[in-house]
This record gives sequence, C-alpha cells and structure tokens, in this order.
Amino acid sequence: MTTPDQLLQALQDEIEQNTYGKHPAELYEPIRYIMSLSGKRLRPLMTLMAAALYTDEWRKALKPAQAVEVFHNFTLMHDDIMDCAPLRRGQPTVHEKWNANIAILSGDVMLVRAYDLLLEVDGDRLKRVIKRFNETAAAVCEGQQLDMNFETRWDVTEAEYLNMIRLKTSVLLGFALELGGIVAGADEEATTLLYEAGVSMGIGFQLKDDLLDVYGDPAKFGKQVGGDIIANKKTFLLIEALERAEDSAKTELDKWVSEKEFDKEEKVKAVTAIYDSLKIRTFTEQKITEHFDKGFDCLERLQAEPARKEPLLSFVHQLVEREN
Ligand code: IPE
Ligand code: IPE
Ligand code: MG
Ligand code: MG
Ligand code: MG
Repeated sequence: MTTPDQLLQALQDEIEQNTYGKHPAELYEPIRYIMSLSGKRLRPLMTLMAAALYTDEWRKALKPAQAVEVFHNFTLMHDDIMDCAPLRRGQPTVHEKWNANIAILSGDVMLVRAYDLLLEVDGDRLKRVIKRFNETAAAVCEGQQLDMNFETRWDVTEAEYLNMIRLKTSVLLGFALELGGIVAGADEEATTLLYEAGVSMGIGFQLKDDLLDVYGDPAKFGKQVGGDIIANKKTFLLIEALERAEDSAKTELDKWVSEKEFDKEEKVKAVTAIYDSLKIRTFTEQKITEHFDKGFDCLERLQAEPARKEPLLSFVHQLVEREN
C-alpha cells in the first residue's frame, strides 16, 4: 500500500514539472513563484488519499489533484489583494512583489490552467467533475464576497459566519475528497460521504486559520499575525468576543473596532488582550474539535478497507494540531 509520503512526493514531482507558460514572463513568473512556495498541499493530498481508498491506480488522480492545488493558489493570489496581505508562506505576496494587476491576471490564467489539468479525468467522469468543480468555484466566490461584506457589518451571527466559511473554504476541501473518490470509481454513497467529511473538516480548518491569525507563532505561521484584527474581519473570535464582552471590555473592544486611524500593532495587542480576558481561545478550540469530529464521523461511516483509511485519518488528526 502507498504511504502518505509517497503520495506527497509524487504530487510535488508532478507540480514541479508544470511550467504553466512562457511569454510574457510577468504573467507566468508569479504562478511559478506562488506554486513553488511551501504550501501544505493538503487539498491535492486529500484527493490522492481519497483515490487511494479505492484503487491502487491513484496516479490517475495526480493531474486532477494538481488542478485543485492550482485553483487554491489562484484563490490565494486574489484573496491576498482583497485582504491587503503582505505575506504568504513566509514570503511577499504576489501583489506586493509585483503589483495588483499582475496578481489579477496571473490568477485568471491559473484558473484556466486548473481546467486544463481537470481535462485529464476519464471521459465518462469528466462532465460530472467539471460540474462539481464549477459549483465549488462559484461557492468560493460567494464566500469571499460575504467575507468582504461582513467587514463593515456588526450584526453578523455565528450562523452567518459558519455559512460564509463553508462557502469560502470548506466546499473546496469537500470537493478535493469527492474528486478522489470519483476518479477512483467510488459509488455515489461514498462520494457523498467524502464530500460531507471534507466540508465538516473544512469548517474546523477555517476556524483554526482564524485562531492562528491571532495566536499563531509568526516564525511558523507564514502570514501576518493579526491581519484579521486589523481588517475587522468577522472571524469566529471577533463574533464571539462582541457577543461576550461586557462593561469595560465592551467599551474597549467597540473603541478599537470603530477606530479609523490606529497603530496596527497596538490594535492587534489590545484586541488580543480582550480575547484573552474572555477566554475566546478555548471556545474556538472547542468549536474546532466539534467540526473535525463531525468529519471523522463521516469517515468512520465510509465503506472502505480500514487499513486504507488509516493514513487519511492520521493526516486529518495532524490538521487539527497544525501550526501553519
Ligand atoms: C489558506 O489555506 C487559506 C484558507 C482556506 C485558510 P492553507 O492553510 O491550506 O494554505 P497553504 O496552501 O498551506 O499555504
Ligand atoms: C480565505 O480565507 C479563503 C480563501 C478562499 C482564499 P482567509 O483570507 O482567512 O485565508 P488566509 O488566511 O489569507 O490564508
Ligand atoms: Mg480572505
Ligand atoms: Mg486572506
Ligand atoms: Mg485567514
């Protein structure tokens, strides 16, 4: 049986071979740049692991898996413009290193390249894959728009937040697993469960991302710590804090989030201190566990050889504990 390390190696080799295009260099260089930065590659790994549950011919899933990673990196390139993010995977973001127009256009061509890679799926499965991919990609855009709409709203509920992160993040993790199942010929019941597992884990994953944005170790996180606080992102942490804060904590929090001119470092420090006093970290960790557990439950119910499930289960356990 294939080990996760073998899957990751095969995937990295496959990704390294892709050159995306040549001229003009300004269009293609940023793609090679972002794709070569050390991302976790978790989505394509999920595709390969799901395929390996049902077939030894998981190599058939390599190109489709890469499509998911290219699409993900395209969303990151555009997301970093929207979020005014300076750092990605410990390096300058594409719009900082080049400029926003270059990041827009390179991102656009990445989406096209993702379709090229998906075309490698066998004929009779291709239409289904494209349809599901299109649904997923549109949902990601919907989630991203909600994320931005929420920046200036103060009545965002936990339910609205969960819906927003389901769209911007979780459906892609769901699709990544489902895709592996489809390519490997798994039945409808299995592909549905794989999708559900990915969506639940994706919610836990985005909650963890929100948590790391505040409490991550800058040396390991690879992104600007505090970026969500600076932008008044309606993360789980802020929504929870707005709901729980009383008296002086409430006055203080209201002051920081409505301030137009502020010292970024000072705001991050002050809001983090309010989160600390309200024990927001613990609440968030509980939520993360809750959603990952739902994902594990789906994987438990999945009909597949237990020995083949083991690598996927241990991989997901590592995601809960991740530091970047
Ligand atoms: C970042 O995704 C965007 C989110 C959905 C939180 P990852 O945390 O998977 O980023 P990389 O690909 O490993 O850099
Ligand atoms: C973005 O969420 C998810 C995407 C669809 C790209 P975030 O904005 O929190 O992702 P990071 O933290 O920049 O990676
Ligand atoms: Mg964002
Ligand atoms: Mg972002
Ligand atoms: Mg984030």
